[in-house]
Amino acid sequence: MIPDTFNAFYVDEDHQASIKSVPYSELPDHEVTIRVHYSSLNYKDALSSRGLNRVTKSYPHIPGIDAAGVVLNDQSGTFEEGQEVIVTGNDLGTNTFGGFGELIRVPASWVVKLPNGLSLEQSMSIGTAGFTALYGIERLKTESIELDGGPVLVTGATGGVGSFAVFSLSQLGYKVIAASTKSEANELLTVLGANEIINSKDLIEAPSRPLLPRKWNGCIETVGGKLLDAVLRQTYPKGAVACCGNVLGVQLQTNVLPFILRGISLLGIDSAFCIRSIREQIWETAAQLPLDTLPDNYYRVVPLEQLSSEIDAILDGKQVGRIVVKHSEP
Ligand SMILES: NC(=O)c1ccc[n+]([C@@H]2O[C@H](COP(=O)([O-])OP(=O)(O)OC[C@H]3O[C@@H](n4cnc5c(N)ncnc54)[C@H](OP(=O)(O)O)[C@@H]3O)[C@@H](O)[C@H]2O)c1
Repeated sequence: MIPDTFNAFYVDEDHQASIKSVPYSELPDHEVTIRVHYSSLNYKDALSSRGLNRVTKSYPHIPGIDAAGVVLNDQSGTFEEGQEVIVTGNDLGTNTFGGFGELIRVPASWVVKLPNGLSLEQSMSIGTAGFTALYGIERLKTESIELDGGPVLVTGATGGVGSFAVFSLSQLGYKVIAASTKSEANELLTVLGANEIINSKDLIEAPSRPLLPRKWNGCIETVGGKLLDAVLRQTYPKGAVACCGNVLGVQLQTNVLPFILRGISLLGIDSAFCIRSIREQIWETAAQLPLDTLPDNYYRVVPLEQLSSEIDAILDGKQVGRIVVKHSEP
């Protein structure tokens, strides 16, 4: 049965957040109503929660680009009541009320069946961040970035996208170089599967020559800006860089020589709008990974009440590991 109200991390017109009881009637008129059991915290949620970068255009708003839960009702007839499902990306949590609320209402086309072998909690420990990492790896594979072609670099390696990229690449058999600003995270990165760890600061301060010595065949690049430019100039001929993030801003100043003399590829990653068949395939791939071998501190489960302090940490670049948000039992 669908309740008349639900609890949510509610951000008002002045971008002030509080836990509030929200009428069901405030949810948009879409096909599938889902009771959200878990969500997760991504960089984009932090921006949306604070009214930053115009991620969310209008407030009041309930952020949360990820949700995993149980179908309460589906007017399209695609999903059964009680079915466990995942919703990530599309417009969830950006301009459609998202997973930081106990209920969401979304189009059936956004909903993916929870794959066998994955729990709702595990799916949100992966969330959009891990999904993006796997999407980037898929794109590298389509550019023939093979296991024996040389190492793959992961930047922002302790972040949500980066850490899952290190783990997944390592599990798939790639040699992984992790670039991080946090020297205290070396042990975590090694446990995740990094073969070599470099300091992101050294990358950002790389000499300005248009081409630098070749160091990696592929890259999952989550930081952007000067770091992305330095990565491009050190990529092997015919290598590929999957561009995911904008932690250092949205501008990219670079030069064309890595492209026209080394034939490298720059691949755009737009996980929010990944086509459905690939989305389903990526979740199936996630379910095949040995998630139980991830270190215990890979993610922490927090209640809605603790979200504000976690948002501060992610915006300060101080987050280590993933944050899974657990809603209270109905
Ligand atoms: N394109 C897509 O589909 C997509 C999907 C999800 C996320 N994203 C974007 O990808 C990026 C990463 O997301 P996330 O969820 O992984 O965020 P996150 O958990 O906050 O990770 C970002 C990481 O970047 C590194 N970093 C932070 N400040 C830095 C600085 N000043 N210089 C160099 N490195 C710095 C940090 O890792 P180290 O300290 O280890 O370097 C940090 O952990 C964000 O821009 C996000 O918006 C894009």
